[in-house]
Amino acid sequence: MTLDSSNGGTSSAVVTDRLGRPVRDLRISVIDRCNFRCTFCMPADREYRFLPRQQLMTFEEIERLVRLFVRLGVRKLRLTGGEPLLRRDIEDLVRLLAAVPGVEDLALTTNGALLAKKAKALADAGLDRVTVSVESLHDDVFGRVTGLGHGVGQVLEGIDAAADAGLGPVKINTVVMKGTNENEVADIAGYFKERGHIVRFIEFMDVGTVNDWSLDQVVTASGIADRIAERWPFEPVDRAQASDVAERFRYLEDGVEFGVIPSISRPFCGDCARARLSSDGRLYTCLFADTGPSLRDRLRAGATDDDLLAFLAAHWRQREDRYSEVRAERLRAGLQPAPQRVEMFRIGG
Ligand code: GTP
Ligand code: 5AD
Ligand code: SF4
Ligand code: SF4
Repeated sequence: MTLDSSNGGTSSAVVTDRLGRPVRDLRISVIDRCNFRCTFCMPADREYRFLPRQQLMTFEEIERLVRLFVRLGVRKLRLTGGEPLLRRDIEDLVRLLAAVPGVEDLALTTNGALLAKKAKALADAGLDRVTVSVESLHDDVFGRVTGLGHGVGQVLEGIDAAADAGLGPVKINTVVMKGTNENEVADIAGYFKERGHIVRFIEFMDVGTVNDWSLDQVVTASGIADRIAERWPFEPVDRAQASDVAERFRYLEDGVEFGVIPSISRPFCGDCARARLSSDGRLYTCLFADTGPSLRDRLRAGATDDDLLAFLAAHWRQREDRYSEVRAERLRAGLQPAPQRVEMFRIGG
């Protein structure tokens, strides 16, 4: 354990887990509901049970936990869902978190449907940037992938509004699936290249249990890069931080960046410094974990900051998650991924 004095004077002790990894990023799911039903996350042909409001973490509870995580080493926060813009008064939470000393980056991942309406208020409240999911530029494919027939126009307007409000550089997440949008990779790259936004193409992952994942639906990161290379030359860019999930590239002609997130073909657990809070306040130390301890219940039972800090530090120290690496080993051995995993919409990716 090393002492850390880089977080605005809050006394702290940076913890590392069993594999020597610190906790740098905290991803906070603020709601488990979504106004989309993406095929790879929460397919529309199923019923979902959502948390009643009183089980969601309150903004004050989230802020208190964030202050503690910062003392353990967290510097980056990302708000997720479900769809985080469905959480009422989300900008109030942004305002609270933007004021926490030691938070260097405050971002939000959204499906963009409500972004045109919300971008200005989020920026005013202190949000630094947004990431928006876009799987297709065609209404028919977009409507099918997102499950409820929505058009993509509303989302593209949301992205423009975010850029205008200063929530940039805007990042775009595109999950690529065989037989769905693989033929659109270069068009999507080109559309956002023109606008200077950073697309990250994500390999379809076996996250959750309801998306019917199979390896033969995955388009690998190198397959994705090949499709882009047919149109534009590009060069690699170093990762900003070891724990970043994306491999980065820059087009030679204009310097705009794109990335690939190769969780299946080149897992990146070795530097994974991400903790996740579900909307009901459980702490997950891996995107593919099946559960985690309830911090909300500890808060509501009257735990002091010192109690919580000791608990969080002890929990992180015993972490040894490396699911994507284990999955790769299992797939090489002809085995299926391990069966029990939290659903994506409960911890926000
Ligand atoms: P930046 O700080 O902008 O680089 O954000 P980010 O890349 O951490 O955030 P984002 O939510 O956009 O992550 C992109 C996608 O990568 C997620 O939606 C997930 O699909 C995937 N991803 C993020 N973190 C992990 C992780 O720890 N493990 C795996 N396997 N996939 C992850
Ligand atoms: N595989 C890869 N990425 C996924 N996402 C959701 N489900 C999956 C999956 N099965 C991505 C979405 C969104 C982010 C929160 O996670 O595209 O951008
Ligand atoms: Fe799609 Fe995100 Fe909603 Fe899941 S949470 S259904 S990925 S928009
Ligand atoms: Fe981290 Fe788990 Fe993703 Fe590996 S699979 S990078 S340990 S969240």
